[in-house]
Amino acid sequence: MTARRKTIALLPGDGIGPEVTHAAVELLTDCASAFGHQFEFREYPFGGNAIDACGTPLPPETLAGCRASDAVLLGAIGGPRWESLPFGTRPEAGLLGIRKELGLYINLRPIRLRPALRNISPLRPERLGESDFEIVRELAGDIYFGEHKLNREKASDLAEYSVAEIERVARYAFERARSRKGHLTSVDKANVLASSTLWRNTVTALAHEYPDVTVDHQYVDNASMQILLKPAQFDVIVTGNMFGDILSDEAAALAGSIGLIPSLSRGRKDQPALYEPIHGSAPTLAGKDVACPLGAIFSATLMLRESFGLEAESRWIEAAVDRILAEGYRTADIAEPGSHTVRRSEFTEKIRAELHSASAQTAARGPR
Ligand code: IPM
Ligand code: MN
Repeated sequence: MTARRKTIALLPGDGIGPEVTHAAVELLTDCASAFGHQFEFREYPFGGNAIDACGTPLPPETLAGCRASDAVLLGAIGGPRWESLPFGTRPEAGLLGIRKELGLYINLRPIRLRPALRNISPLRPERLGESDFEIVRELAGDIYFGEHKLNREKASDLAEYSVAEIERVARYAFERARSRKGHLTSVDKANVLASSTLWRNTVTALAHEYPDVTVDHQYVDNASMQILLKPAQFDVIVTGNMFGDILSDEAAALAGSIGLIPSLSRGRKDQPALYEPIHGSAPTLAGKDVACPLGAIFSATLMLRESFGLEAESRWIEAAVDRILAEGYRTADIAEPGSHTVRRSEFTEKIRAELHSASAQTAARGPR
């Protein structure tokens, strides 16, 4: 076993962000002691709390701390308290800022249904089939980062893509597809938008370099319908920033709750990646100890796997989560008739106890 020393920057954020991040840190700490790794956590202000404490959602010390880390774990940001601030100075500006500053142009959102939770999906089992797919969302361009103009009478937002921006994220998606079932669906609005026409042409040209990957193209309106009609057709979806934002919330609903879906945001391989649940700060749930920590926990296991190469450790945690779900323990948002609804803290404790059960110890000692 190779012991790893890793520094993890924590940006718990606002609302339920700190609670769910805390749960993930507890499991990472258990993982480090079971496997002999050293994880050092360094916490920084970010989002609304950073506006209150430092006057800006992304303080320079936070950015420096992230740059100096091996990976970043983020909770969630925002809330009604900061909604009346001028456009561009809200917590969300910190999130877009950190994506830009850390060069995070790839956003991976795995839509994996947990076996014990298939009944909480709003889709009937026969439609759901063996759905398990990944959305690769471009994260540094598009209408998100084009010029925004706003005055009392008129507003505009510029959607822009260059070939280089499309290629770098598409290559990642082709590689992902290659390591999975070998199918890539590129989603655009090439029947209307110039930026989407370039997107489609670029993905089509690149496909020649990946003859082992089959590619299809869907318009975003059709794709949003296909996700509900026949989700099992998808393996990897690659799309622009705006469409990826929207489709990933829709796809998360298939898994039963947006609270279950993690994400990875990354740029160059030698730079720290950022992991965060895709849910928001859920202000109405904050401080009540009821939020589902699984989006944050799966973000942590994604970090173990993708940034640290710790596959066995990642599976050790995910298997314990699946066993606890199979025993019927749930937070309120993923409860179903007959399940035991527990608070976030108790749910996390159940997972921790499961980690330390005999079978988990065997997994920890097993080959890697
Ligand atoms: C997400 C969020 C962000 C986005 C918001 C909070 C700026 O919805 O990460 O999906 O639109 O990218
Ligand atoms: Mn979103």
